[in-house]
Amino acid sequence: MRTQVDPPEPGRSREGLFHQRFADEARFIKAWFENPGATGAVSPSGRFLARAMARCVDLDAPGPVIELGPGTGPVTQALLHRGLAPERLILVEYDPAFCRLLERRFPGVRVVQGDAYDLAGTLAGVVDGPACAVVSSLPLLNRPDADRLKLLADAFDIIGPRGVVVQFTYGMVSPIPRRVKGESAPRFSAEASQPVWLNLPPARVWCYRPLGEGVALRANAAEKLIGEFRAGAGRMKDEILDTCDRIETEIRLARERVRSDFERRAARVRNERAMKPALELLRRIGEPRKRR
Ligand SMILES: C[S@@+](CC[C@H](N)C(=O)[O-])C[C@H]1O[C@@H](n2cnc3c(N)ncnc32)[C@H](O)[C@@H]1O
Repeated sequence: MRTQVDPPEPGRSREGLFHQRFADEARFIKAWFENPGATGAVSPSGRFLARAMARCVDLDAPGPVIELGPGTGPVTQALLHRGLAPERLILVEYDPAFCRLLERRFPGVRVVQGDAYDLAGTLAGVVDGPACAVVSSLPLLNRPDADRLKLLADAFDIIGPRGVVVQFTYGMVSPIPRRVKGESAPRFSAEASQPVWLNLPPARVWCYRPLGEGVALRANAAEKLIGEFRAGAGRMKDEILDTCDRIETEIRLARERVRSDFERRAARVRNERAMKPALELLRRIGEPRKRR
């Protein structure tokens, strides 16, 4: 969804741009009504979000850039605007009406109508070397975790060593689960951008990169160390609690001993005081009478 007004593109008047935006909004709403799950939004992404996505791509890395779910093309536009040659851009879009629009709007860019969740099948014969990046605006949150992880694994299979997988989300956390149940350490790195507040709704851009073998081993070793440290800390906590219990018991027993000792002494003093007049009398009776 967008509220801001772009400066006119070269060769386009502000009025022409306004009409294009209005038409894109209408196309998007139509697509959303026809297939809300796949369209995932009621409005195209704004230019600030599109630029944030395009900035994640290292254009010096070799190979094509594959965009998944381009819709009406705001991210496509931002990638081209950054200097990506149209021949390096491959768009994978499910919706045939969006595909026709993209072909008209971006001459020289290759548009493939197909399913991004079957990336290998859809791109068979289209991509022949490692890709520079996979840039996705697919509405991932509508799909189960397994589909999202498979999509990421498929994307990692086609990018080169300097490649990156870029995905935006309106959510607070990574749209691709970072920890897989039963696995000790994540097999990829995930970095999030600051929120793009000037998009409605605000969104974040995530960049995913596969971890090299060495990095994965280090991550596993670090994970193991953290586990051992946690177990050690748990044992230490138990010992501290046991010691506290013992000290508390000893203090209680000592306090009871002091109290009973004090009570015994107090009773003796009380007895001595009570006996004092009788003892005095006995002493006097035993004294010889004084002569007159
Ligand atoms: C949220 S829109 C994003 C559109 C555009 N990139 C933007 O940012 O405004 C999602 C797009 O993904 C497309 N899409 C959804 N599922 C797809 C799939 N399995 N394969 C290819 N494209 C898909 C939709 O048709 C739609 O154009």
